[in-house]
Amino acid sequence: MARVAFIGLGVMGAPMAGHLAKAGHQVTVYNRTASRAADWVERHGHAAAATPADAAEGAELVLACVGNDADVRSVTTGPGGAFETLAPGAVFVDHTTASAEVARELAGRAAERGAGFVDAPVSGGQAGAEKGQLTVMCGGDAGDFARAEPVIAAYARACRLMGPVGAGQLTKMVNQICIAGLLQGLSEGLAFGQKAGLDGLAVLDVIGKGAAGSWQMENRGPTMLEGRFDFGFAIDWMRKDLAICLEEAERNGAALPVTALVDQFYKDVQRMGGGRGDTSSLIRRLS
Ligand SMILES: NC(=O)c1ccc[n+]([C@@H]2O[C@H](COP(=O)([O-])OP(=O)(O)OC[C@H]3O[C@@H](n4cnc5c(N)ncnc54)[C@H](OP(=O)(O)O)[C@@H]3O)[C@@H](O)[C@H]2O)c1
Repeated sequence: MARVAFIGLGVMGAPMAGHLAKAGHQVTVYNRTASRAADWVERHGHAAAATPADAAEGAELVLACVGNDADVRSVTTGPGGAFETLAPGAVFVDHTTASAEVARELAGRAAERGAGFVDAPVSGGQAGAEKGQLTVMCGGDAGDFARAEPVIAAYARACRLMGPVGAGQLTKMVNQICIAGLLQGLSEGLAFGQKAGLDGLAVLDVIGKGAAGSWQMENRGPTMLEGRFDFGFAIDWMRKDLAICLEEAERNGAALPVTALVDQFYKDVQRMGGGRGDTSSLIRRLS
């Protein structure tokens, strides 16, 4: 069992840290809003620290799940950040969905302290975090990954090293690019079926078993027809992720015309007041 720190007890981080405690690791948590850390300690025991630096002190593994690039920089290299105390030989694991660039930058800063860095964004959403069944896409040195993986296993269904630092974030970008186009196609198909006067559930039942079937069709198709959009992963987060994809494509020369268009469609839904709705609410523009 390891001595670990967990930074960021949000929708994803709080249950992930909870699984670490359940697995028997010695956990010190930090959350910017201290009351959330106090609530977590009341539920799970263990300890809360006043700063990321205090949490990271003496930890073999420091894990984080915050919002975006700026937030990751703030809890690592900012004042009171974890890199002030990150021990030589320790590994910092970042579960935030962020850019590959920030991963490479922070890996360099960690290396200056003799510590490792693994970028490890996740998919599986709030339900996956609560059930301890996330998919974790990692980038880093094989030795650092080998030390992190047994701890990450507390909340992962799958955890795979995809390549050097940044490769985890790049893999997550592929995931988000695939989801964006797929959800727009699903929205158009379902809205077309409604306008054509078809029974939407019957359509899903028939075509879902064929070549058009997907996780989104099976799980979100019926709820899209019902107009229910409270499934956790908000459009505000998705637009942050798509901006990261579009910036990376500028760098590597990939063409993302559909992703760029769907990003603008998500902007429309935000303007309709739907920023906290989940990603399947793209259909709201069409019905
Ligand atoms: N929710 C999902 O379904 C999902 C799925 C896959 C990936 N993700 C990714 O996972 C990450 C976290 O998502 P979430 O849904 O858990 O978000 P969330 O509920 O908003 O939680 C964000 C956490 O980060 C902390 N934080 C943000 N900025 C900070 C800063 N500058 N300094 C210190 N702490 C800061 C927040 O602290 P406070 O409590 O003080 O606000 C909170 O603990 C995001 O990158 C998201 O894209 C989310």
